[in-house]
Amino acid sequence: MYKARREKLAAMLPENAMLFVLSGKNVHSVGDEMYPFAVDRNFYYLTGIDRSDMMYMLVKKDGEVQDMLVIERFDEMMAKWVGAKMLPAEATEISGIGQIVMDDEKWCTIHRMMARQFDHEANLNVYADLTKQDIDQVTPAYAFINEFTSKYPHLTVNNAAPMLTKLRIIKADAEVEKISKAISVTNKAILNMMDHSEAGIGENVLEAHFDFVLKCNKCKRAFPTIVGSGKNGTVLHYGENNQIAEDNTLALCDLGAAYENYSADITRTFPVNGKFTERQKQIYNIVLEANEMIISAVKPGLTLRGLNNMVIEFYEKKLAEIGLLENGKKVSDYYWHGVSHMLGLETHDVQLSNYELEPGNVFTVEPGLYLEEEGIGIRIEDDVLVTEDGCINLSKEIIKTVEDIEAYMAK
Ligand code: GLY
Ligand code: MN
Ligand code: MN
Repeated sequence: MYKARREKLAAMLPENAMLFVLSGKNVHSVGDEMYPFAVDRNFYYLTGIDRSDMMYMLVKKDGEVQDMLVIERFDEMMAKWVGAKMLPAEATEISGIGQIVMDDEKWCTIHRMMARQFDHEANLNVYADLTKQDIDQVTPAYAFINEFTSKYPHLTVNNAAPMLTKLRIIKADAEVEKISKAISVTNKAILNMMDHSEAGIGENVLEAHFDFVLKCNKCKRAFPTIVGSGKNGTVLHYGENNQIAEDNTLALCDLGAAYENYSADITRTFPVNGKFTERQKQIYNIVLEANEMIISAVKPGLTLRGLNNMVIEFYEKKLAEIGLLENGKKVSDYYWHGVSHMLGLETHDVQLSNYELEPGNVFTVEPGLYLEEEGIGIRIEDDVLVTEDGCINLSKEIIKTVEDIEAYMAK
């Protein structure tokens, strides 16, 4: 699978090309502690290896492709303290890459290729994955490329990220299976939250009931969990989760398990005491109708922006009917995010601008309504797979109607 992906990427590269994709670095938090390591998703996509301080390297010359993996040298003392570095045989076993280069030999290897294969030619096409989240960020790839261009200042470097995005945006069956596994663990974990929910429970306690099921099922959480009760549910990325969920409030729970780095991203909103008030039910059913309307509309050729416009149009009608658009109020006072984003190795997965949906895309459908003054925040989020003529709701097993939630919680 990883070899097939690398072959596809190689075919997209021009002749006379070199490509570098780095796995990332461990980052210090306080003292000698490290943040949890998150592998670069393009590196993982190409190699299947979830380790820091590695680099995938590819050379394409006269139609011939050669690739190799740079890894750290085994260090006996480090092995005793924090665990062994991956040995070359294991790296080959996982990735299928036969040629392994030790990190302390990488510049010699690169230089030999530059001299022998490319005669230091100026029209060599150099590629690296140069994705970054903010302008000042120096990712390991930027640090490497800075060093590379200081050694070879006559070469310019291109961004390989758009090519990798074109590959990653269509999910293979094996990827859909991993997302589905993450969704099924998320389902169990949401039921465990509902099992333990009651008026006066701490948002943190609800979160703990979610985490417990993830740990028991060898999953990590895909992103910081949101458990917002009452008014906290109207703050889109509320992550404190440290308030008491009062009687007659709703808990908006936006969460997901990650299985082998593939994310689920689900939101369910339920009454902490097991019973919706009439007003909560009224607003909930509008959001649910929007969620189901979008899921039945999805098909190839549409755009995520087009789907969001459908939600806004629907809310314009529905919110007017119940008087929420009086006194100059607009839909954007109650709903101000997009209805969808791609899902995969990242929760907010890679996306192309003005992209028209194709079979194999996986994305979220997550309309919401946020009535801050009434302390009602509702979002209902499912994960769907685009097919030839519609979509499959991968999270259809997770209960979401008022009747099903109330019946389940009554038990
Ligand atoms: N959990 C973040 C989102 O739904 O996009
Ligand atoms: Mn979410
Ligand atoms: Mn989402």
